[in-house]
Amino acid sequence: MGYFLRQRRQIDELLYAEISERRSSKQSEQGVDIFSLLMQARDENGDPMTDEELRDELLTLLFVGHETTATAMAWGLYWSHYLPEVQKKLLQEVDCLGNSPDPMDIFRLPYLGAFCNETLRIHPVAMLTFSRVVQEPVEILEQSLEPGTRVGGCIYLLHHREDLYPNSNQFRPERFLERQYSQYEFMPFGAGARRCIGDALAMFEMKLVMATILSRYEMKLPAANEKPQRRGITLAPANGVKMIITGQRVRQEQPIAAM
Ligand code: HEM
Repeated sequence: MGYFLRQRRQIDELLYAEISERRSSKQSEQGVDIFSLLMQARDENGDPMTDEELRDELLTLLFVGHETTATAMAWGLYWSHYLPEVQKKLLQEVDCLGNSPDPMDIFRLPYLGAFCNETLRIHPVAMLTFSRVVQEPVEILEQSLEPGTRVGGCIYLLHHREDLYPNSNQFRPERFLERQYSQYEFMPFGAGARRCIGDALAMFEMKLVMATILSRYEMKLPAANEKPQRRGITLAPANGVKMIITGQRVRQEQPIAAM
């Protein structure tokens, strides 16, 4: 049996074991975590999901949630080390929160937020939305679309529109502090009813991981020429952003603002 099939069987065994444990312990009847919600869901006939359906949902969440966020964070590490002034601003902001910051305070940091947005803008991890199928005749941007036509949004092109993002190839987090973009101008997670279901989790994860790694470790980027490359449906750094940890970092005390 090939490597892929062996890996898939192993993952299936783990997932089915978890499903069966949840079913027998009944702990999912009241839970509010996503697994419990999937187990509580009923279709129009009142039927719950089968084990196979639950397995499919869990596998989707594991994979789309893992590769995408990991790729976004790799880009984040790249930009923060490629542009020392950006790194400096990030560290100043994070250091202000003290030695063991509350995760929600990290989540609310404005420059870190703008930095994560800019990372997801310049090389959107998902270049395209999933496609939509036209249900009734519609005109979009002077194009008449007939029922049955498949339409996909190109997130990459949108994120490089010069009217929205001047010098769009320049990495500049400040653009997200200077103006607010609507959900149809900035859409790393797609838009509309089928927008990414994991967007809030992904942003939370990205901000916490970036803040933690940057504030705890001194790192070096040996090759500062990372290019984007298609990897399946994602746009990932071609060389994988290889970095070297050169030591632990000590938090810099920030001067207290004059009263
Ligand atoms: C930086 C990280 C991520 C990016 C850039 C991203 C991007 C996207 C995009 C562009 C779509 C298509 C939306 C559309 O067609 O309008 C999508 C869909 C989806 N994403 Fe994400 N995603 C990320 C993380 C996650 C995570 C963490 C999860 C789950 C834990 C997740 C689960 C999903 C699912 C289930 C869909 C399909 C939604 C549907 O069809 O209703 N994603 N994502």
